[in-house]
Amino acid sequence: MAFPVNAVTLNDGTSIPQLGLGTYRLADDDAYRVASQALEMGYRHIDTARLYHNESGIGRAIRESGIPRDDLYITTKLWNGDQPKARDALSGSLDRLGLEHVDLYLIHWPAPLRGTYVDAWKQLEVLRADGLTTSIGVSNFEPEHLDAIAAVSDVVPVINQVELHPLFQQKALRAEHAKRGIATESWGPLCHGAVDLVEEMPALVNLAERYEKTIAQVILRWHLQHGIIIFPKTSSKERLVENFALFDFEISDADIREIDGFDINKRLGTAPADGNWD
Ligand SMILES: NC(=O)c1ccc[n+]([C@@H]2O[C@H](COP(=O)([O-])OP(=O)(O)OC[C@H]3O[C@@H](n4cnc5c(N)ncnc54)[C@H](OP(=O)(O)O)[C@@H]3O)[C@@H](O)[C@H]2O)c1
Repeated sequence: MAFPVNAVTLNDGTSIPQLGLGTYRLADDDAYRVASQALEMGYRHIDTARLYHNESGIGRAIRESGIPRDDLYITTKLWNGDQPKARDALSGSLDRLGLEHVDLYLIHWPAPLRGTYVDAWKQLEVLRADGLTTSIGVSNFEPEHLDAIAAVSDVVPVINQVELHPLFQQKALRAEHAKRGIATESWGPLCHGAVDLVEEMPALVNLAERYEKTIAQVILRWHLQHGIIIFPKTSSKERLVENFALFDFEISDADIREIDGFDINKRLGTAPADGNWD
């Protein structure tokens, strides 16, 4: 598979484009428009979820793009209430996407109060064996949740997708991933759109000026240089272009260390154990 962006090799031998498109909070029609524009400008990796209610629009964009299936990397996720019936949930996602398989299927949250995620992992193993998804992984898992599935399964998740950005760098969890052979995906790489980036990290203004890039590009490049997989979300065509132009510059080690220093352990979304919604 040839990708226009760097690829990361996963623990099952497959590879994933390190940069893609996030689609949270894009309604179906917007997701169709944005995904179509993104595919046209070279994006080949799209992150969605049953929860986002936009798999149909993304499927339409994929079909109309005419891009060969093998050149695309599509992720979707198993929602909490569907954990007891993962096969039905994935079949529904595949129907909406118009695909025979996804590249990556993630357990969206451990939702520990529901008590079903360990069994869901065993179901995902079967779905992978049946070819409905090429790889399987998790999202919003803490080490204790990774331990719980490791206790019943020899299959290590290829990826853990977690909140991660300069204000919340997850250094301990990233070290844990490295030990276990799990790749890290950042959700909310641009701080989830929840804060004013300049107000929170004024030193980024000077960094961006020096590299002749935008603040968003500097933040996204910081993730890439840490080997993290990202898929920033935007509804704007200009920002799609901006967020994809990350491979023509490199941040120096000293500047990477400066951004490493912006970590204030500031979580902007829900903590993993608290995401137990239906
Ligand atoms: N597994 C999970 O639990 C989970 C949770 C959250 C998200 N995710 C996934 O991760 C993806 C990314 O995370 P996210 O959508 O929460 O947050 P994000 O990508 O960090 O930030 C998106 C926000 O940043 C703005 N933005 C995008 N590009 C920009 C740029 N170049 N300059 C300035 N602002 C920019 C967007 O506004 P505009 O749209 O107006 O451009 C939007 O408000 C999601 O879309 C989803 O696929 C997963």
